[in-house]
Amino acid sequence: METKTVSNLRVQVRCRPLRAECSAHRLRLSLWGRYSSFFLTMYLLSFLSFILLEVLAVRCQLESPRIVGGYTPVPYSIKYIVSLQTLYHQHFCGGFLINKFWVMTAAHCNIGVDKMIVVAGDFSLTVYEGTEQQVFPQVLVPHPNYNSITYDSDIMLIKLRAPIELNSYVSVVLLPRQDAAIAEGTMCRVSGWGYTTPTGTQIPASLQTLKLPIVSTETCNSSQSFNGSVTNNMLCAGYELGGKDACQGDSGGPLVCAGRAYGVVSWGRGCAQANFPGVYTSVSKFRRWIDNTIFSFYSRCKTN
Ligand SMILES: *[C@@H]1O[C@H](CO)[C@@H](O)[C@H](O)[C@H]1NC(C)=O
Ligand SMILES: *[C@@H]1O[C@H](CO)[C@@H](O)[C@H](O)[C@H]1NC(C)=O
Repeated sequence: METKTVSNLRVQVRCRPLRAECSAHRLRLSLWGRYSSFFLTMYLLSFLSFILLEVLAVRCQLESPRIVGGYTPVPYSIKYIVSLQTLYHQHFCGGFLINKFWVMTAAHCNIGVDKMIVVAGDFSLTVYEGTEQQVFPQVLVPHPNYNSITYDSDIMLIKLRAPIELNSYVSVVLLPRQDAAIAEGTMCRVSGWGYTTPTGTQIPASLQTLKLPIVSTETCNSSQSFNGSVTNNMLCAGYELGGKDACQGDSGGPLVCAGRAYGVVSWGRGCAQANFPGVYTSVSKFRRWIDNTIFSFYSRCKTN
């Protein structure tokens, strides 16, 4: 993945996991304690280190909101979300289950079929909770019209090698009908494990969620905002004053309105800036493509 696209898009391939960050602090502090010369100093320092470590550990665990301006949902209440991870278990994008064999995400999350794992039923990325299901993708189907410069048609389907088991932690989300419109001001929910501050550098541990109103394409495409960069295949959602938004690492995640996934987290200008809402791929523009793609795989199965 080129870094130039990474900076603008809501994807973070080279993320640093939260735990590594914490253990680096720990190492630095304990070395500092070990090499101090006086016994008393050493004693005091190690005592101080101990306190500092406790504070750091607590801060690391309670590291606040993820999505910018969001909150932690009741664990496993957002059952359709998945984390796309590298083979080294680094979260880099979100996605969502549309049936037990298929995940939807953004086309710019395409790092290669043999380089990713899909994790469903997750809540905290750093704790094994026993609810996680990991499945390898079998096929990635990025939209053929995806444009990595304009981000038009930023949508991708992932066919899984094995079905995800739907249970009390994992379920699917409905999709809107082809060309279904969503009214300005409709409140929608976006969720993800992306950065929690516009200048963030860490992927958070637990899932975050946030409610946002739909912004009209006209406002979003105006010269006060994205000035002509918003296409018919995009949706905007956010607050005029900013402060709440999806951010890097939330890419590919779902924007759910009235129980249906109308948007896929795609791009933005920074995160949570006033007058610059988040831009999402408009799923309703691709419903026919989604159905046809999935159907073509099933009919292929039958003839084999
Ligand atoms: C908006 O785009 C037009 C044409 O592409 C350009 O001339 C203008 O300077 C832009 N306005 C702003 C505010 O960026
Ligand atoms: C956004 O503005 C550009 C430039 O004016 C225009 O070409 C484009 O069609 C507009 N997008 C939508 C969805 O109307």
